[in-house]
Amino acid sequence: MNTTIDAFSPAKIGPYTLNNRFVMAPLTRNRAGAGNVPQPLNVEYYKQRSGAGLIITEASQISPMAVGYPGTPGIHSPEQVKGWRAVTDAVHAKGGLVFIQLWHVGRISHPSLLPGNATPVAPSAIRPDGEAFTMTGPQPFETPRALETEEIPAIVEDYVRAAKNAMDAGFDGVEIHAANGYLIDQFLRDGSNKRTDRYGGSLENRLRLLKEVTEAVITAIGPEKTGVRLSPENTFNDIRDSDPQTTFNAVADMLAGYGLLYLHVVEGDFVSGEAKLDYRELKRRFKGVYMANGGYDLERSLKAFEYGGADLVSIGKLFLANPDLVVRFRKGAALNEPDQATFYGGGAEGYTDYPFLES
Ligand SMILES: Cc1cc2nc3c(=O)[nH]c(=O)nc-3n(C[C@H](O)[C@H](O)[C@H](O)COP(=O)(O)O)c2cc1C
Repeated sequence: MNTTIDAFSPAKIGPYTLNNRFVMAPLTRNRAGAGNVPQPLNVEYYKQRSGAGLIITEASQISPMAVGYPGTPGIHSPEQVKGWRAVTDAVHAKGGLVFIQLWHVGRISHPSLLPGNATPVAPSAIRPDGEAFTMTGPQPFETPRALETEEIPAIVEDYVRAAKNAMDAGFDGVEIHAANGYLIDQFLRDGSNKRTDRYGGSLENRLRLLKEVTEAVITAIGPEKTGVRLSPENTFNDIRDSDPQTTFNAVADMLAGYGLLYLHVVEGDFVSGEAKLDYRELKRRFKGVYMANGGYDLERSLKAFEYGGADLVSIGKLFLANPDLVVRFRKGAALNEPDQATFYGGGAEGYTDYPFLES
């Protein structure tokens, strides 16, 4: 098999034809406008990157209680839906596809970011180590409030409403963010979930929130429009599991039955840079389209396609710095270096001003 041609050729994935197998990974950039509404600058940024086989947007809040950072977009208000509509129209006009990542941060927040200075919510009242990013700078995380069992259906409903809003905004689909230490991940892992109700304790119970959100979202918009993101061994946001391989094997088994468009897996730990789990095992168990992420460049991506380690690869920092990344990959051209100082917040600098190959 000529893997180079394969990666750069259109790929039929569920009902979609991706122009290539390089997906733009979700990247929080903290540049939404007032009311956490996407603005013209954001439209330009995504438009520039529409050469990706698929764009997955930055994580976007499903409700006002889901917010954890300044300047991150939501998908719960009519203004936000309208703001996103300009993004999806621009990407579609360029022949691209775009999914929105649905986000509830859980305990990775701060009262100053929440309605009525509310206490952040979580599976259990366990304070994460570290600091929240607030409007006035970093502040220590506070101890979250454990959600009551009766509150959980309303959160599942928030995911459904957000997914329906995403359809109204013209998205091709949604990605359920169950990674990186945010709310769903806090339920999945035993370091942050000490509940004694049906959402905690046994492995099956810890998986229940993700199961319910997945079932409710696919019922609302269809499994072929839904992906799920996991990060089995990431300790980012102070999250841990005593046996991640067993936990996430079970997650992959659970998700395998739904006909989802893809499973998106962050391979490795952002903090240590190590990747020790058997990700092939997750891919084997899920059975459907497996999207790998975490330090994939051109060479590693082609190897993964060749040896069956991935069906799609998502790329974060390189897409951030190279709007025409796929063109550069195809030509074997040099890449712009990502500038960490402008990752989070600010304006056009380090956002829409990375040069194209031929500009
Ligand atoms: C600036 C920045 C913002 C990120 N925002 C998100 C996000 O909103 N949602 C998410 O799931 N991951 C997020 N990530 C993680 C990336 O999607 C990706 O997993 C990580 O950068 C590793 O992939 P890479 O080596 O290709 O960059 C972010 C990473 C960076 C560098």
